[in-house]
Amino acid sequence: MTTRSPKPDPASMSRLMPEQIRITDVSPRDGLQNEDRRVPTSEKVALVRALCAAGVDEVEVSSFVSAAWIPQLGDAAEVFSQLAGHAAPGRDRPVFSALVPNRRGMDAAIEVNRRAGIRVVDKVSVFTAASETFARRNTNATIAETIERFIPVSEAAAREGMPLRAYISCVVACPFEGAIDPGQVAKVIGLLAAVKNAGRLDEIDLGDTVGAATPDTIVPVIRAARRAIDQFMPGVEITLHLHDTNGQAGASVAAALREGIRSFDGSAGGLGGCPYASTPGHRAPGNIATRAIVDIARVAGFETPVDDRLLDEASRFARALVGFHAAE
Ligand code: HMG
Ligand code: MG
Repeated sequence: MTTRSPKPDPASMSRLMPEQIRITDVSPRDGLQNEDRRVPTSEKVALVRALCAAGVDEVEVSSFVSAAWIPQLGDAAEVFSQLAGHAAPGRDRPVFSALVPNRRGMDAAIEVNRRAGIRVVDKVSVFTAASETFARRNTNATIAETIERFIPVSEAAAREGMPLRAYISCVVACPFEGAIDPGQVAKVIGLLAAVKNAGRLDEIDLGDTVGAATPDTIVPVIRAARRAIDQFMPGVEITLHLHDTNGQAGASVAAALREGIRSFDGSAGGLGGCPYASTPGHRAPGNIATRAIVDIARVAGFETPVDDRLLDEASRFARALVGFHAAE
């Protein structure tokens, strides 16, 4: 006599399914903003398309910032309008996002969507820092002043139904001030509560701008950030944005996964670096390669929809765009 196996219980099945992580590829923005070579608009569009094919969850396409500050991304509106042929995010394409430092950048993002007649800029990201010196060098503003500039961005994001991410740079160290106390990151999250209250704020992105993080230094930052989020903006997601200077970014991703982080920024081919984090004789480091995040997450038992072969193709294309001098 054969015994029938009991019907699988959906609840226990979902416990057995590998958990997904979310990957944002920032190579078209962070990867190209510090390059001497002016990458033609058509090649930027081709990179974004290659990343769409690779299956990442989000692509940070460009920045609506002052072209005097970041001339490399002065064609943001044109890049987005050339992407307008893509369908809405979901099955057919990832979320498309852009950096906006102020109301003017947000207006430019909204104008792209209005002209396209469909949404192409799905999501926007504001950026501040845990270091006063870095905030001033990167945005010509104190941390408090950057937050004031974000209020109208948050109001508009709520009106437009666009998710809003807030980067905090220098969460571990600042190129000018040195080590940063995790308490300072928590303090900035407290200040960002005003931005959320003005409209919406969906995500805090912890930026290790100089690539100084190790498992020992990133875990206290994540814990401090989570405590502050629970206190000031419960439910807001944490993303981790690592640059890789000392070969420790991979170990930091693994440590962050153990801490419950499920959203990571990477860059195809390991391109990247903020020009305002460069110091004389020292170019700002590239982001952790997206492929490294995929591999580390899989080893740790997580799933991503990324196609390895197509991601490798996108990474080769990205490196070729900048003359291969980013990390292999
Ligand atoms: P400012 O000079 O203090 O601003 O710059 P302003 O308000 O005095 O304006 C100066 C000029 O810029 C004016 O033009 C404005 O209209 C124009 P003018 O009248 O002289 O012709 N302007 C703009 N133009 C286009 N788009 C705008 C905009 N706003 C003003 N949105 C500002 C302040 C924030 C604009 C400037 O500092 C800036 O654009 N900074 C951007 C720096 C940047 O993009 N850095 C890299 C990204 S952050 C990063 O890489 C870190 C990250 O990866 C995380 C991590 O790794 O930690 C995110
Ligand atoms: Mg960065």
